[in-house]
Amino acid sequence: MFRTNDQMLCLFESYLAQLEIPEEPALLYAPITYSISGGGKRLRPLLLLLSAQALGGDVQAALPAAVAVEVFHNFTLLHDDIMDNADVRRGKPSVYARWGENVAILSGDAMMICAYKSLSRVAADKLPRVMEIFNDMALKVCEGQQYDMDFEKKRKVSVVEYIQMIDSKTSALLAGSAMIGAVLAGASDDDVKRIERFATELGLAFQLQDDLLDSYGDTALGKKIGGDILEGKQTYLMVQAMSRASEAQRDTLRTTHSDPALTPEQKIERVKAVYDALDVARITEQQISQRFERALAIIETLSTQEELREPLRVFARNLIGRKR
Ligand code: IPE
Ligand code: IPE
Ligand code: MG
Ligand code: MG
Ligand code: MG
Repeated sequence: MFRTNDQMLCLFESYLAQLEIPEEPALLYAPITYSISGGGKRLRPLLLLLSAQALGGDVQAALPAAVAVEVFHNFTLLHDDIMDNADVRRGKPSVYARWGENVAILSGDAMMICAYKSLSRVAADKLPRVMEIFNDMALKVCEGQQYDMDFEKKRKVSVVEYIQMIDSKTSALLAGSAMIGAVLAGASDDDVKRIERFATELGLAFQLQDDLLDSYGDTALGKKIGGDILEGKQTYLMVQAMSRASEAQRDTLRTTHSDPALTPEQKIERVKAVYDALDVARITEQQISQRFERALAIIETLSTQEELREPLRVFARNLIGRKR
């Protein structure tokens, strides 16, 4: 007997619904409820539970850790939206846009503590290893977020540097989630490493897709389209465009976002015209497919039964086919 992805999601949602978030002080807790029930895709807890299942674990026993990674993820978004000046998240005002920065900082801090509270409920014999993975991953996310901000001020970012940055800011949380699922299932060290590599590749593909959708997606994404361009962020599209651009195009790419004479729409249009001329959307799509294929191939190396691999494949396919 195994659970399909939809069944796993239902299991997670009903467990999460039991999480009791206090009412007062309202400005501390209301943003937490708003964020956690705000329509996230639940990728990290799902990956944790599917990894536990794929490696023969007890999925019920993995639920507290699944809640921990989802709450931690939502905490990172509260602070990320402040750092990125992002007013819209999941089609609604971001926490900082709705309640202000101070609220987003403190509610975010409280969410991190809630994440650790839930994590502390995993089986005592597994807790030291799970805690170690969680802490390494959490610190790596912070490192990635700092590099992300450093890159806004850096003239030239190489493709390699960029991939290292997203490996930290995005893949680390997915990889950590998958590893925790595997450890809770009592998987061998080899399988824990394999599932880590699987989730890392998938996480890179996922962030590249996020970069692509930020410029070329539609309202379904629930974030402001062109937000990365307006913030002058280094994205895979920008890094690839810079490495292929003429002197004049490079100048456009570098200066457009801070040009006071242009409206936001004009800025987005101008940068995307260079992207189009340099075909960077297609280059990004190719890189996404390559990483995705690599991730799929790693699934086949796990020491598990065929039927338990399929949910991981479905998870990977849904992730890459996403519009939001
Ligand atoms: C957003 O993650 C942050 C990135 C790493 C791109 P998700 O797209 O998984 O966010 P939600 O939780 O589903 O909204
Ligand atoms: C997300 O990167 C990474 C973390 C939140 C840790 P982005 O800044 O690209 O995520 P979105 O686009 O705001 O969701
Ligand atoms: Mg952001
Ligand atoms: Mg960011
Ligand atoms: Mg983004």
